Amino acid sequence: MALKFVDEIDLKGKRVIARFDFNVPLSKDGTKQITDTTRVDCALPTIKHILDKGATKLIIMSHLGRPDGERNMKYSLEPVAKYLSQKLEMDVVLTESCTDAGIKSLLNLDKNKIILLENLRFHPEEEDNNREFAKTLSSYADIYVNDAFGTAHRKHASTYEINAFFKGKAVGGFLLKKEIDALNNVVENPKHPFVAIVGGAKVADKIKIIERLLTNVDKMIIGGAMAYPFLKAQGHKVGSSLCSETDVDLAKKILASSTGSKIVLPVDHVVSTGTEGQAEAINSMDIPDGKMGLDIGNHTLDNYKSILSSSKTVLWNGPMGYFENKSFAKGTFEVAKLLAQLNGAFTLVGGGDSVSAVTKAGVADKLSHVSTGGGASLEYIEQGSLPGIQALKFGIE
Ligand code: 3PG
Ligand code: MG
Repeated sequence: MALKFVDEIDLKGKRVIARFDFNVPLSKDGTKQITDTTRVDCALPTIKHILDKGATKLIIMSHLGRPDGERNMKYSLEPVAKYLSQKLEMDVVLTESCTDAGIKSLLNLDKNKIILLENLRFHPEEEDNNREFAKTLSSYADIYVNDAFGTAHRKHASTYEINAFFKGKAVGGFLLKKEIDALNNVVENPKHPFVAIVGGAKVADKIKIIERLLTNVDKMIIGGAMAYPFLKAQGHKVGSSLCSETDVDLAKKILASSTGSKIVLPVDHVVSTGTEGQAEAINSMDIPDGKMGLDIGNHTLDNYKSILSSSKTVLWNGPMGYFENKSFAKGTFEVAKLLAQLNGAFTLVGGGDSVSAVTKAGVADKLSHVSTGGGASLEYIEQGSLPGIQALKFGIE
């Protein structure tokens, strides 16, 4: 069965509910500015298509952050509503919740063409992939569009179970299509040497994927918070760096496996007492007590550079340090620049933070593909599909 896309279905006179990944980074200064609008910008072609083709209503859904099933205005989609409204030059009504009674009346009004449902994850039912919640969401529309590539690895009500209520009326968006086409380059026929660079802080999420991805790649460079469990597993000191015992156990298992020798770790670090502290270079794999690793060091960068210079496929996911603070941003920005200079290699970057790093470094247009999905692109490469895509393709009962 082929996956159908939004340009293959008649939208005229229809109500359309569309899932996007608007999990965007927000400034932490209280003004809640979107610090990287890539994910919203990438959704605009699908949104415009739906409106241009005569849909009467567009109901937009997304999550933002991890509010864990509770209403927490820190994670409100309000900044997204504002930004969307500016970009589209149209009103965007933000609802109180995904289930409030007012939605039904909004649907019957002629004005307010675009309705943005408040954060899906304010409802525990979203992450529980709850059938009734999916049914409520589905009751708002005739057609379902999924363009949330960044969330397609999650089996949630708005990405998975909702498909049960749109048989033959569920389609993918243009971003989903673009992502799948680009990632298939890496899945179907990667040129070797194939090197993955994995960093970032969602260690528990990614560590299992790393294990499986190791069979496909020739080398895997580990940086950022991802590195500390591996260093600790090798007997190094990690000071007060982010590092849970569960992750150390997983790292030990990975290092001991037959593919464990493909892993390349930092040999030096930039450390401090905390994320806002003074940066200090440490010329050792070990991090002293009371200090936390916040960036990779210069020798590490040299090593990475020599590995990358001969590679033909590079997959980068997750920053090399706490790059939000410029004292710890060098490793991340240097890796971004290294990738931009690789000639003849297929370079793929995924994940909110890595994408914002390549954008800030001004090199996004020099890479082969910049994915809006971090975990999603990793899982796609490792499995060749994702639950959200499978549900769209085959439907669910
Ligand atoms: C992401 O940022 O990776 C996606 O939006 C999914 O978010 P999650 O990791 O909180 O499920
Ligand atoms: Mg993310």
